[in-house]
This record gives sequence, C-alpha cells and structure tokens, in this order.
Amino acid sequence: MNETIPQLSSYDEPSLDAAFATLAAEVHTESSAPHDAEAFRLRWLGRKQGRLKLISDAWLKSAPAEARKPLGIRFNQLKQQIEAALADASASPSASAAKAGIDITLPGTVRSPGVEHPLVKTINEIVAVFHHLGYSTALGPQVESDFYNFEALNFPPNHPARDTQDTLVVAGQNDRPQRDRLLMRTHTSPVQIRTMIAQAPPVRIVVPGKVHRNDAADATHSPVFHQVEGLCVDTNITFSDLKGTLDHAMKALFGSAVKTRFFPSFFPFTEPSADVQISCIFCAGKGCRKCKQSGWIELLGCGMVDPAVFASVTAERRKINPADDAYNPERITGFAFGMGVERIAMIQHGISDIGHFYSGDLRFLEQFS
Ligand code: DAH
Repeated sequence: MNETIPQLSSYDEPSLDAAFATLAAEVHTESSAPHDAEAFRLRWLGRKQGRLKLISDAWLKSAPAEARKPLGIRFNQLKQQIEAALADASASPSASAAKAGIDITLPGTVRSPGVEHPLVKTINEIVAVFHHLGYSTALGPQVESDFYNFEALNFPPNHPARDTQDTLVVAGQNDRPQRDRLLMRTHTSPVQIRTMIAQAPPVRIVVPGKVHRNDAADATHSPVFHQVEGLCVDTNITFSDLKGTLDHAMKALFGSAVKTRFFPSFFPFTEPSADVQISCIFCAGKGCRKCKQSGWIELLGCGMVDPAVFASVTAERRKINPADDAYNPERITGFAFGMGVERIAMIQHGISDIGHFYSGDLRFLEQFS
C-alpha cells in the first residue's frame, strides 16, 4: 500500500494523456498476470488507501482550475478500466476455481465408463440374433391384467397351469371382473396378445423383459427374473420353421457345434408344445456335472400358437372391427418360444449362483467389462 504517488509536472493535455496512459498500462499488466482479485481491487479502488483515491487527491489538489475537468474525465475513465479488469478477472474460470478452493492444476478424477450388466448383454445378444432374421422388438408392461397374462393365453380361471405361475397381485381389486385384475406378469407371453391385437400378420417379434413369480430364491431361482419371448405369425408357418429358427439361434448364441433337440411338452398357449435342449457346451455332449451326465441342457419352451389364442385375439379385434378375420387359424399359423435370460447367461459364463446378477458386487460385475 505504500506506493509512491507519481507526480505531475504539467497539466497540459499531452502530459495528462501520457500520465494516464502509464496508469492504464500498470492496471493492464497487474490484472493480466496471475493475481488475487481482491488484493488488486483494494490496491486500486480501496476507499482510503487505494491508488485511485491517493493519486486523484494529490493531482486534483495541485491542479489549476481549468485542468480539473479534463483530470476528472480521465480519472473516471481509469476507474472504468480498473472495474472492467476486475470483472474480467472474476469471470475467468481459473479465478473462480481458485476462489472456491479448487486447484485446477491437479489431475482430474478418473471415472470408469459404465458397461452393460451381464444380463443386459445377454438380452442384447439374443435380441440381435432375431433382429438379423427380421424380427423387431416389442415391449409390454410388468403390471399386467389377468386377461393378457393368463386368460387370452388359454389359461382359464382356476386352470391348474396357473399354479406353476403364482405371482404377486395388486391389492384391492376384488370388485373388478377377474379379467381386469392386475398382477405382476409371470412371463413375457402377454406381449404376444398385445401385439396381435394391435397388428395383423405377418408378425415377427422378440420381447425381452422382467417377469415375477412366487418362487423361493435359490442358486437357480429368483422371484424376479428375465425372459425373451418370440412370436412369428404368418401364412404357411410350420413346425419345421420353428425348429430351423431355434436351431439357428442356439448355434448363433452358443457356437455352431451346438446341437438341438425337441421334446414334447405342454403350454396352454401352444399346441403342439416342446422343450428345447442343446448339447452340453461344457462337455460337448459327453456327460458332466453341469448337464447331470445327460449330455443335454434344457433351455427353452416353444410350440405352435394354439388356435384358442388366435380366437382370443380375434374376439378382441372384433370389438373394434366386427368383420376382422386377420387371425383366422384356417389361413394363419405361427410359432412362439420363451427363454430365461439368467439361465442362458449362467451357461454362457459358467456362473453357478443366480444371486450374483443382483448383488451389485463390483468384483463380479467388473469381470464383464
Ligand atoms: N411363457 C412360458 C413360461 O414362462 C415360456 C414359453 C413357452 C413361452 C412356450 C412361449 C412358448 O412363447 O411358446 O414358462
């Protein structure tokens, strides 16, 4: 603060210009070098000891009357230059960072980029196989009505097939008709119905999604899990199309050496129905612990769409267009399939406990990055 006050030898215009140019240059130099903005403000604009105040006091006191006005104008300009320099300084990021106590010269925090969860990865792989065959993705709600989850899929009320798909129901709906009561969907199959009501054949969709069942959690079961559903409906769709499509899909997912075989099974919404097994990818079919010495691993359910399903769809479509005949089973056939994503991911990666998928344990998840 004990700056010397420059002296003025003369008050003519050129001398004033030269003196103020020197001051302006000082302001410029001080404000463009790294500096503490508050100290700079005090040094120039401090009310008692600021340079502007000291210099103007000194120069105005000894100024002849006619020099006061040009001096005043120049002091005003100088003040504006100082204020502009201050405004620039506080707008600069390094200055505001310094004020906030941030040292911008330190190296930044390294954030690891996120990666797909292994289940998402497997879903995307399955879906991609079918996208290449011309299927598109369809989605549906997890809170579903009894009609879409069961009835339209040919599980009548009280049918024993419902027992295998016990689930959580939404409370307080006993006064609604059964078909409208809400529950957590037990499979992705209701999206078959929603899609067919909304669109006429040809239909080729895959439906990834979360499903819910009253199953106790153990190493291979979880009350919430994931499925990918498939539906193909058109003229002339046969069981050999189903076999060819799924055989191709299994080879695409597990490698071209994999074999498939189809066993008779039962699902209310397909007739005939089948379970699909693949040759064990761990022992190439020789028999090991993973395949319980059988050489085969059961992977999914499938079948030809039951005409009763087309009948439910037609009844709904006729509420909008009474003449609708798009899903006449004399002309239209189809196949459907459904697979569990966790099971496929566990086989792909040799994971023995389904709980790892939901644990959020980075030591598990980082292995898929
Ligand atoms: N929805 C069946 C389940 O969750 C799986 C399934 C089997 C889906 C056969 C299908 C199918 O589309 O045709 O157990």
